[in-house]
Amino acid sequence: MNKGQEENLFLMGFMGSGKTTIGQKLANACGKKFCDMDQELEKREGRSVSQIFAEKGEAYFREKETELLAELLLKQGHIIALGGGTPVQTANSRLLQKYGARVLWLDADAEAIYRRLACDHTRPLLEGLTDQEKYNKIAALLAQRKPWYAWVATQKWENQSMGEAKEYTIEETVENLAEQERKIQEQEAAACKTIWVLNGPNLNFLGIREPAVYGTENYAALVAYVKEAGISYGFTVRCLQSNYEGELVDWIQDAYREGVDGLVINPGALTHYSYTLRDALASVAERLPAVEVHLSEIQEREEFRHISVTRPVCIDQVSGLGFASYEAAFARLAEFFKKNS
Ligand code: DQA
Repeated sequence: MNKGQEENLFLMGFMGSGKTTIGQKLANACGKKFCDMDQELEKREGRSVSQIFAEKGEAYFREKETELLAELLLKQGHIIALGGGTPVQTANSRLLQKYGARVLWLDADAEAIYRRLACDHTRPLLEGLTDQEKYNKIAALLAQRKPWYAWVATQKWENQSMGEAKEYTIEETVENLAEQERKIQEQEAAACKTIWVLNGPNLNFLGIREPAVYGTENYAALVAYVKEAGISYGFTVRCLQSNYEGELVDWIQDAYREGVDGLVINPGALTHYSYTLRDALASVAERLPAVEVHLSEIQEREEFRHISVTRPVCIDQVSGLGFASYEAAFARLAEFFKKNS
C-alpha cells in the first residue's frame, strides 16, 4: 500500500454467508471492483467448481485457487469474495497473513445458513441430502472451519440468527460496511506518509506461541490494531510478515525503491544476530528511517535477547508494550518526520 492506493477488502465466510451478494453490492456502493474467487476460477477454467472437482480433482482446484489468491493480494481497490474453503488451506491463510490482508468475516450460525440454503440447489456439498442431514453437515463443516476463519479475520461482522446478535438484512449489512469503506477511502486519500510494518519469524504464530509472553491475540488482531493505529497518525500502513530473513531484506529494498517514508520492524529473533538484516537497514537508513519494535521487554528476558544488532541502524527502539509498541513506533516516526521536514 502506497499513498493514493486503495487497499483490498476480502470477504470471508461459510457458503450462504452472503459473500457474493454483499461483495457485489458493496463494491457498487463504494466504486470498487468486485471479484468472486469461485466465479473467477470458473471463468478461467471454463467450467463450474463442481466440474473442476469432478474432472481435475480437488488438488488441482486448490492449486489454481492459491495462484489466484496470490495474484489478487497484489491488486488494489478490490472487494474480493474468498471461497468458503479458501482460508482452510494453510497455503492460503499464510498468504493472507503474509500480505496483512484486510479480511472481514461474515459470521452466521448453522441455523441461519441452513435456512438461507434451504432452496439453493447449487451447492455440491449439500446435494442429495435430507433436511436433517443438510443441517448436520452444515453444523459439522462450520465447526471445522471456524478456527481457520478466526485465524485470518481482521474484522468480524456478526450476522447470527440465534443468540444475542441481530440478523441484519443484506441492505443493512451493505449500508454499514459501505460507510466503513468510505471512511477508509477518505483516510487513504488524506494520508500523508506511507509506512511499511515488517514482522519477522514466528510473529504469524501470535496467539499460539508462548501466550504468557506474547498474549493470546493472534496475528490478524495485530494487523487490525496496527492499521487502525497508523490511520490516527495519517499513515497509510502496509503490513508484511515473513519467516525468512532474505524476504525481509527484499522488502526493505523494495520499500526504498518504492519511496516508502518509514519502516516499523519487529525482526523477531533475527534482532539478536542478523547482520544481514542490519546491513539491509543500514543501506537505506539515510532515506528510510526505521523503528525497531518488540512486543515483549527484551531487556527483562534471557540474556541473548538483550543484544540487538539491528537497533544501531534504526532511529529508535520500542520494547515491552505488547501491541502498543507498534503505536509508540508510529509516534516516534511522526516526531522524526516533524523534526526533519
Ligand atoms: C520479539 C522478541 C524476540 O526476542 C523474539 O525472538 C521474537 C519476538 C518480541 O516482539 O517481543 O520473536 O521480537
